[in-house]
Amino acid sequence: MPLEVHRGRLFHFPHITASPCEQYQYLEDGVLVVDEGKIVGLGDANDYLQAHPQLASQIIQHQGLLVPGFIDAHAHYPQIEMIASFGQQLLDWLHDYTFPTELKFIQREYAREQADLFLEQLFAHGTTTAAVFATVFPQSVDMFFEAAQTFDARMICGKVLMDRFCPDGLRDTPAQGYLDSIDLIEHWHNNGRALYAITPRFAPTSTPQQLKKAAQLAHKYPDVFIQTHLSENVKEIALVKQLFPHNKDYLDVYESTGLLRERAIFGHGVHLTHSEMKRLAASGATVACCPSSNLFLGSGLFPFDKVKQSGTHIAFASDVGAGTSMSLFANMADAYKVCQLQHYSLDPFEAMYHCTQGSAVAFKLEDKIGNLNVGTEADFVELNPSAFPMLEQRIKGAKSLQDELFALIILGDERVIDKTYVSGVKVFDRHKHQWTHPSFSVVSAF
Ligand code: GUN
Ligand code: ZN
Repeated sequence: MPLEVHRGRLFHFPHITASPCEQYQYLEDGVLVVDEGKIVGLGDANDYLQAHPQLASQIIQHQGLLVPGFIDAHAHYPQIEMIASFGQQLLDWLHDYTFPTELKFIQREYAREQADLFLEQLFAHGTTTAAVFATVFPQSVDMFFEAAQTFDARMICGKVLMDRFCPDGLRDTPAQGYLDSIDLIEHWHNNGRALYAITPRFAPTSTPQQLKKAAQLAHKYPDVFIQTHLSENVKEIALVKQLFPHNKDYLDVYESTGLLRERAIFGHGVHLTHSEMKRLAASGATVACCPSSNLFLGSGLFPFDKVKQSGTHIAFASDVGAGTSMSLFANMADAYKVCQLQHYSLDPFEAMYHCTQGSAVAFKLEDKIGNLNVGTEADFVELNPSAFPMLEQRIKGAKSLQDELFALIILGDERVIDKTYVSGVKVFDRHKHQWTHPSFSVVSAF
């Protein structure tokens, strides 16, 4: 593909920061130069084009706002078919809806079909990287990564480890889960843009023996991700107390086994204690904040300000299918409301940081994704502030960039995602009302 010069308004966080409200970069008329899937230039359009006049013929003009592709820190690809399932809280919801659905992923073809749909939906919602739970079946991981590889997309995924408290057909054993995970890590981790995550589902569905094997994997592969769930729901926490009576708290179940470290992503953390937050912060691990899921399952209000003050990495996440939208805009809007209920006003810059650069930093991937810096991978999104009349009117009256971002977050959803680029290639274009990637021949239903 020839070099492309994307010209338009640009916004991102170039560095790690504790003050996203101040430390962002905004170019009213900027260029983002893309070659061979990488960002090779960034700057003020006039200055850049004066220095590189030969690029004038390569310009693609964008009307909207160019931002880095969003990072969804926690999602379940097998659960999109049972998203919006009625009436239950976490443990019953898993039993009634989730486990029966995940049983279907023993079939490779079905898993591939669902992986394709999940990725298509991710891109339509502006997300270009996600940390994804597959199922207990290793083939469900193969199918996900194979689908992601057709787009050269940076995705994190792992086989669920689960050896108790679930239906027979969904259970592995400590030894088999360990061996399957090794095969998958050896095949997929750093294969193209794929990254592997050791994935014990959560403490209740793994015996102490299985958690020990997961920790052995973590020790053997120190740069591989770990993903699991932590302190989501009050009944779940009581169950963990009952199952692990000798551990001082929920986090300690993972910590004492050797599963608390950098690149470990803990979904939820709604009911963390002060001590747990401090230990999470010290370890360099990440809490994936899943506001739409926490509201939908009635799990509770994520204590964003407290977790932030503790210094723990926070990354926003959809947690579909308990989450009700793959849009991180919808999840940011939910996060704002959840924070308001706790008398904290989540700043739009802060929210955007924890969907892009903040998450990349948490995952130690900021040299690759999460920003528009030169040398990183060209995953970016064009947002349309005129996506629908009410938004257009509100943003016309916006007093500042902060005000515009706030309106986009509160009113926006997937409609504001105009175009999505992965590795420099356009994979979604709302105006064409179709998927631009050759593997999607079906015209979208929008
Ligand atoms: N805890 C264990 N498994 C799950 C899951 O699939 N979704 C959510 N939200 N919480 C979990
Ligand atoms: Zn989850």
